[in-house]
Amino acid sequence: MRVLVIGSGGREHTLVWSLLQSDQVREVICAPGNAGIAEMAECVDIAVSDFDGIAEYALETGVELVVVGPDDPLAAGITDVLESHGLRVFGPNKAAAEIEGSKVFMKHLLRKYEIPTAAYETFDDVDTALAYVRQQALPIVIKADGLAAGKGVIIAQTMSEAEQTLQDMMIDGKFGASGSRIVIEEFMQGQEMSILAFVDGETVRACVPAQDHKPIFDGDRGPNTGGMGTYSPLPHISDSIVEEAIRTIIEPTAKAMVAEGRPFKGILFAGLMITPQGKPKVVEFNARFGDPETQVVLPRLKTDLLSVFNAVVDGTLEQVELEWDQEAAVCVIIAAEGYPNTPRKGDVITGLEAAAQHALVFHAGTKRNGEGQVVTNGGRVLGIVGRGGDVRAAQQAAYKAVQAVSFQGMQYRKDIAEKSLNGVVIG
Ligand code: AMP
Ligand code: GLY
Repeated sequence: MRVLVIGSGGREHTLVWSLLQSDQVREVICAPGNAGIAEMAECVDIAVSDFDGIAEYALETGVELVVVGPDDPLAAGITDVLESHGLRVFGPNKAAAEIEGSKVFMKHLLRKYEIPTAAYETFDDVDTALAYVRQQALPIVIKADGLAAGKGVIIAQTMSEAEQTLQDMMIDGKFGASGSRIVIEEFMQGQEMSILAFVDGETVRACVPAQDHKPIFDGDRGPNTGGMGTYSPLPHISDSIVEEAIRTIIEPTAKAMVAEGRPFKGILFAGLMITPQGKPKVVEFNARFGDPETQVVLPRLKTDLLSVFNAVVDGTLEQVELEWDQEAAVCVIIAAEGYPNTPRKGDVITGLEAAAQHALVFHAGTKRNGEGQVVTNGGRVLGIVGRGGDVRAAQQAAYKAVQAVSFQGMQYRKDIAEKSLNGVVIG
């Protein structure tokens, strides 16, 4: 098959790499891609928002499957547009992608179908929101309804911070239209866990779990990012909790989407909180692969990825069982100076080949400059994935490779996976 992957990040580099392992794949093309993807696949310069351009290219060049990486085009209906041209697409349609695109929709769905999540209320009027928030315990979580590049969630520690957040979102339009409606929800304590699950309507095939590290600095300090590192498996979370999450959250959610007339077909990403009592609850849903969860989950997948994509698109996922490698994987993100605010671009990156001796090197924000050097071109620059017999061995391989890489102002966390290695198991 000729497969077109849409996107340009570390997630897409991993998707391309993983698809290229398949015997059934003749060619992988990526739009628009990055410097790392260009080393293994043809990259075509079409923006992810140019749905007509993508459709035209795919039809003209005989693309047999389009795999959509990022959330924005899914929320804007890329799948509906490409399907209307007769193309086969892996990724939910617009109605199903609303599970990520609108937190109000998602929370109402979970309440209606009694799926465990934080208690909440929704608001579109600032005075009502202020009156409500003043009666709540702290900390309190305030979320813009729509997509906000991972920045639309504020955990207010003080009442004045909560009031300021409502002002920023609902009056000053800090997140544009995304913030005109908001969710205010209960703060949940615990350990976070990400489960990616293939879904073709009612059938669910969950991947091995991963854990992300959202704050920029070691010890979970500093502002949130898109994710600074991940690992899988999770030695500190028992299998029974993972099974409970699939049974009480992911499967009922897939059924609920069917019942609502919005069957979800694609990869459903459940961001979960495991409470100190060992109960999984929903933090968020995404309608796409996680970044950087994908970087540690797909290298562990032994089943042919293309065959799983085809089963989802054809509605035959029930016939598929996923097989997993017992090896562990740890991904350390190397970010640019200034990230997560304004990353500096154009710094020359060295040591990529040496790093690849020890680990998988997935590019995120990179490109080639006029002289052919690989340079930084975004906030998250590289995802370095170490593998080994257990999480400690994978972590050591990842950091050995990270030491080989160098560019001006590079930043990375030195404690990825560390909190899973203290010997305490939840559940
Ligand atoms: P989201 O963009 O919804 O994933 O939220 C970003 C991050 O905020 C999550 O990964 C959590 O760390 C945190 N968060 C969101 N909602 C809650 C909540 N109700 N309780 C505690 N932490 C939360
Ligand atoms: N790593 C979190 C996300 O992809 O949203």
